[in-house]
Amino acid sequence: MRALLVNGSPREKRSASAAILDALGGRLERGGAGVLRGAAGDGEAAMLEAAQGCAAIVFAFPLYVDGVPSGLLRLMEGISGGISRAAPGAHVYAVANNGFYEGRQNAPALETMKLFCAAAGLAWGQGLGVGGGPMLRSAPIGRGPAKALGGALDALALNILEGGSSDDVFLDPGIPRFLYRRMGEMGFRARARRNGLGARRLYARPYGDP
Ligand SMILES: Cc1cc2nc3c(=O)[nH]c(=O)nc-3n(C[C@H](O)[C@H](O)[C@H](O)COP(=O)(O)O)c2cc1C
Repeated sequence: MRALLVNGSPREKRSASAAILDALGGRLERGGAGVLRGAAGDGEAAMLEAAQGCAAIVFAFPLYVDGVPSGLLRLMEGISGGISRAAPGAHVYAVANNGFYEGRQNAPALETMKLFCAAAGLAWGQGLGVGGGPMLRSAPIGRGPAKALGGALDALALNILEGGSSDDVFLDPGIPRFLYRRMGEMGFRARARRNGLGARRLYARPYGDP
């Protein structure tokens, strides 16, 4: 079987979505599937061409303001009329990752993907919502804080290889919430310093206390 993996992150190769698709693609290839890669920026014609004969189309994307990033939305609108002719009977799978801790925050974006799927005349396979996404750009999937994600991708790959459908799965990172928040704050402060902004100015209230 052939699967098309589409990266919906504007960060493209440097994204958590790319790390997720690399890990999923490896699992699919080990299971005997042919894997094609695409990105939201490739455009409608290239996407419809790549989807020809695929049994599965997998979208991985970041959560933007509780929704699907606009570039990917535009692509989905553009291909929804022709995708079922290019890939008749294909199943759609979606992996959304977000910056907050709770993977469940991705639920509304996965509902959007299901609406696309129904409008396009394709079959819904499964959604995966992954919290703590920024960690995935450095933490290896399948180990440490991303251990559970490795298991979820094993199950998703099996589902894709079998052309099956399953309930959506939501994952939080494998570290306590307070630690994740602490790490995020350290990262924000370091980035602020690199941009010439000290802690005092960062927390300044120019308009007084609310
Ligand atoms: C414009 C913008 C909007 C975002 N909105 C949300 C949001 O609503 N909820 C959330 O948890 N994270 C939000 N994030 C954080 C991203 O989802 C997070 O950094 C994600 O890991 C990026 O994935 P990527 O590396 O695959 O692009 C937002 C980030 C950006 C740039």
